[in-house]
Amino acid sequence: KEKSPSLLSEENILIIAHRGASGYAPEHTIYSYAEGEKMHSDYIEIDLQMTKDGKLIALHDSDVSRTTNSEGEVKDLLYEEIRILDAGSWFNEENPDLAQSVFKNATIPTLEEIFEHFGTNSNYYIETKRPEEYPEMVNQLVETLNKYDLLGEDVPRGKVIIQSFSEDSLRELHELDPSIPLIQLISFNHHARLSQKQIDKIRSYAVGIGPNYQSLSEPFVHNIRDAGLLLHPYTVNKKEDMERLINWGVTGMFTNYPDRLKEVIEET
Ligand code: G3P
Ligand code: CA
Repeated sequence: KEKSPSLLSEENILIIAHRGASGYAPEHTIYSYAEGEKMHSDYIEIDLQMTKDGKLIALHDSDVSRTTNSEGEVKDLLYEEIRILDAGSWFNEENPDLAQSVFKNATIPTLEEIFEHFGTNSNYYIETKRPEEYPEMVNQLVETLNKYDLLGEDVPRGKVIIQSFSEDSLRELHELDPSIPLIQLISFNHHARLSQKQIDKIRSYAVGIGPNYQSLSEPFVHNIRDAGLLLHPYTVNKKEDMERLINWGVTGMFTNYPDRLKEVIEET
């Protein structure tokens, strides 16, 4: 699974399966993650939320209504209430051409279930969502990673990357374990721009940035790469965009279509 010499080598273009291969299967389910692995993605991307009783689960939204047959904020629901939800039928309804009857059995996985299913052979790119709402999230994430042998000296660097829009959350992680590679997510309104001071600040705790790809320009990409930072834009689904970004020098991308990115990498 590892690309040589290291996953985080600047020579690599990382394929990050965004919510799994979520263009083909319901996002953040074992089905979409498995599809991403089948397509030879480098990473399973996981968004984290926390239930009322403190379980870390994989879900993008802070409430369950878009992707399940129920409603309510995750922070107000017990895991017991969440584990029985149907997290796949919405996908079948919205994508009749991609619908599969097994998706009706899809559930919202806990972080532990994901690690139990995919083990230490897979690589994980985990986002702390709304960490200010969930003060225990960071500690529990590190504990869970340790429990599943995904952190530590014997683990290849880059096996787990942690990303967040929250600088505080990343700084907390950096203090807990400075060896974890961190990515600062950024949503630029228009054109991506960072001052040298901002770049230096990010470099003090993170190995790279994850910006919205629409904001990028070639000079910005060069600037970030020259600063020695990795650059993983989100969420790139069209081959023409993938090709352009690779030519500019990005070091990976979040995509709902890992198969497309693989083809583009092989062609360039
Ligand atoms: O984590 C990168 C990208 O996924 C950020 O956007 O909203 O899909 O989590 P979102
Ligand atoms: Ca994400």
